[in-house]
Amino acid sequence: MIKDKIAIIGLGYVGLPLARLFATKYSVVGFDINTDRISELISGVDSTLEVDNETLQSVLIAEDSDEIGLFCTNQLEKIKDCNYYIITVPTPVDKNNRPILTPLIKASETVGAVLKKGDIVIYESTVYPGATEEDCVPILEKVSELQFNIDFYAGYSPERINPGDKEHTVEKILKVTSGSTPKIGEKVNDLYKSVITAGTHLAPTIKVAEASKVIENSQRDINIAFVNELAKIFNLLDINTHDVLEAAGTKWNFLPFKPGLVGGHCIGVDPYYLAQKAQEYGYHPEIILAGRRLNDGMGDYVASEILKCMIKKNIPVNGAKVLILGITFKENCPDVRNTKVVDLVIALKDYGLDITIYDPWANSDEILNEFSLKSTNSLPKQKFDAIILTVAHNEFKALDLESLSNLKSVVYDVKNFLPKNKKDKGL
Ligand SMILES: NC(=O)c1ccc[n+]([C@@H]2O[C@H](COP(=O)([O-])OP(=O)(O)OC[C@H]3O[C@@H](n4cnc5c(N)ncnc54)[C@H](O)[C@@H]3O)[C@@H](O)[C@H]2O)c1
Repeated sequence: MIKDKIAIIGLGYVGLPLARLFATKYSVVGFDINTDRISELISGVDSTLEVDNETLQSVLIAEDSDEIGLFCTNQLEKIKDCNYYIITVPTPVDKNNRPILTPLIKASETVGAVLKKGDIVIYESTVYPGATEEDCVPILEKVSELQFNIDFYAGYSPERINPGDKEHTVEKILKVTSGSTPKIGEKVNDLYKSVITAGTHLAPTIKVAEASKVIENSQRDINIAFVNELAKIFNLLDINTHDVLEAAGTKWNFLPFKPGLVGGHCIGVDPYYLAQKAQEYGYHPEIILAGRRLNDGMGDYVASEILKCMIKKNIPVNGAKVLILGITFKENCPDVRNTKVVDLVIALKDYGLDITIYDPWANSDEILNEFSLKSTNSLPKQKFDAIILTVAHNEFKALDLESLSNLKSVVYDVKNFLPKNKKDKGL
């Protein structure tokens, strides 16, 4: 019997933890086109901080072999003798919020070039229902010249990890699986079941599994949009939104969502995949896109709220010095992809404010390259006219805000992180 050998294509936030986990029981080849990423992984370092260096180093192997462990490479020939190919590449949107399938197509071309009879290609990237069988499989067939469901097979198993979350790690999250035939579904399910301690759920078809993932994130997006709308209403009524949510939350079936800036690679992006597919079939989603519009407008809204606070305190706005605490898309993690703090910063700059961004987690070079914004990892020494808490990093708990404030500075808390007596207002 041939021993299972797994190739993971794309070693980012999703691919690396999965590759590391499989590498505790299987021979795994991690493949990525980013040579810098491969170099850092070979040296035993994960800059996304999803896998700690010791855990990574415990599975790394230096040579391509059939032994248990993880071998990282950017060379195509090293994945030739695998029989499972798991694709974990990005699925972003363009500036008009249309899905960009290019990484998926390119990764499918890569796998198509090495595909053999009996192989199974499993997609994990978040997509709309139909993307695996309608967009990716035809590429695999074309490049490999093999026939789908005769020579090779497909599966889809969405990832549910949460960047920065050290409690819900990949093996502890129940995993949805699926296959292109019932028998392949069982095989894909068995593969994941062998490493996912939380268990698996075998969906009846690939499209069901694809749809299940995209609605998970769309549901979160819509729920957050609802509480963001509530925050806008309660601000007008001069009621504290968090007090209302706390009171309503005493009912057993009230959902505990909080208002905020919805950034990141998933929640703010995935609903557009579902919307695009719906529109292709002649249905214009109302709630999904309304949620997106509302959440995407929160940066501007928060900026206008901060301005009102400053004007009320007689702080001259033009040229005022503002400290932004946090630029990553969420707390205690270095991920800055699609961070909506940037929308807030742009809006504040537009009003003529002088912005300083302090984030102990973010990589300043990445912030400069991605968003053309300067940021610092060390706490500034000067005093500010306004301090905005945008990300609830643990480091901010111990901050002495008074030492950063003038006599009448505004403190605005987007995350409801600071005690009530330490802030002027929050979202
Ligand atoms: N980050 C999350 O928390 C999360 C959670 C669940 C699902 N997802 C989904 O998982 C997918 C991957 O997300 P991610 O956060 O890991 O992305 P990422 O950007 O962190 O990693 C993707 C990796 O793929 C590599 N890559 C891109 N094109 C490639 C190609 N053609 N061949 C080989 N490697 C290639 C990149 O160099 C990068 O290292 C996305 O569809 C995302 O929506 C992400």
